[in-house]
Amino acid sequence: MHGETDTDRLARANAIRRRTPPAHPAGAPRRALFRGPCGIGQTVSMAPRALITGITGQDGSYLAEFLLDKGYEVTGLHRRSSTVTFERISHLTDRLTLVSADLLDEASMLRVLRDHRPNEVYNLAAQSFVQTSFAQPVLTGEVTALGVTRLLDAILLVDPSIRFYQASSSEMFGKVAEVPQTEGTPFHPRSPYGVAKVYGHWITVNYRESYGLHASSGILFNHESPRRGLEFVTRKVTHSAAAIKRGMKKTVALGNLDAQRDWGYAPDYVRAMWLMTQQDAPGDYVVATGETHSVRELCQIAFDQVGLAWQDHVVVDEQFFRPAEVDLLIGNPARASGHLGWKPEVGFEELIRLMVDADVAALAKL
Ligand code: NAP
Ligand code: GDD
Repeated sequence: MHGETDTDRLARANAIRRRTPPAHPAGAPRRALFRGPCGIGQTVSMAPRALITGITGQDGSYLAEFLLDKGYEVTGLHRRSSTVTFERISHLTDRLTLVSADLLDEASMLRVLRDHRPNEVYNLAAQSFVQTSFAQPVLTGEVTALGVTRLLDAILLVDPSIRFYQASSSEMFGKVAEVPQTEGTPFHPRSPYGVAKVYGHWITVNYRESYGLHASSGILFNHESPRRGLEFVTRKVTHSAAAIKRGMKKTVALGNLDAQRDWGYAPDYVRAMWLMTQQDAPGDYVVATGETHSVRELCQIAFDQVGLAWQDHVVVDEQFFRPAEVDLLIGNPARASGHLGWKPEVGFEELIRLMVDADVAALAKL
């Protein structure tokens, strides 16, 4: 509000919080929620409402499916672009409400929250590609770091009882201080993206501690699927293996083949996001498989799935090396398993083989 100091704002947010009964009192049935003021002749919706930022991305599309199947009304925030970005959610658009807003523009998020009054907000939007963050560090910071504060501030002003999920990342561990990594492992990010995610993580913790928000941070390790962007290494390799098999090209150029990641299956990981917002108390959780594999192993399995030897088709090109690398990630999901009852259902080899099969099927339709 005009002329409002930080202290005024905190007092106002706290006053709002005291006035607003929690949307999900502990133990209350989550579906006993009303859409708005209801009188005779007005429609009443018993469905919980979720807002997903980044709904056009890999995780946003799976989370939308998951929440719709659970009976949620889902609103998806997408940013304006000159071409349509709804490829991953085209099968869902008649079940979703899509609204235009941007993490760079706080007022746009205030309007969305005010108009759609979600009970849960999942912040998945980010400039999420590590390599690009070296070329565009400021943009990455604006969206991936400060964007989180803009959204948290908007929540504080519109409805502090909203439950919030922040998409934090194993990239925050960077030059890892211990193996495997847990919620207590110190952060040492190795990219502007990782630095931005550390900010997003700590501002989420800070708003939880300062204002009592039900704000959780999921420290998710790499998770993949046939909907993964083509620039990420798993999809780049599975798509290339399928294209080479069809004779569309002969080689694929990669960077560091020794890098090791804890790769899981994206639909398993969106389940963990939802479980976090259902807990009585907010918290931070590592979500991982507990296994690590190298880019080289990824190549071996992907090319094997189409009956080829990876050494005949993979070339190393320095342009794909990073100024600073994260050599090894492996997470310990014990807390997520113990508190949330979460466990992954798809293992690494099955994941890569299903991604190759999906790429083979997609290319066959061209
Ligand atoms: P993704 O496929 O790259 O999707 C990112 C989403 O953010 C897209 O919908 C994108 O919209 C949107 N976006 C980007 N800038 C925006 C802005 N300024 N305003 C509003 N929306 C914006 O990423 P993902 O793999 O689904 O990951 C989801 C989240 O989890 C990200 O925050 C990522 O950093 C984090 N994360 C991912 C992994 C993983 O392995 N996948 C692991 C840990 C954490 P457009 O479609 O318009 O580009
Ligand atoms: N993208 C890419 N392309 N990576 C390659 C290549 C290549 O040609 N060759 C080797 N790599 C190596 C990278 O150097 C990195 O060590 C590893 O493969 C994985 O790279 P990405 O698939 O781009 O993922 P990422 O680990 O950098 O980041 C992803 O996971 C993070 C969680 O740890 C993204 O999804 C981030 O948004 C996410 O936070």
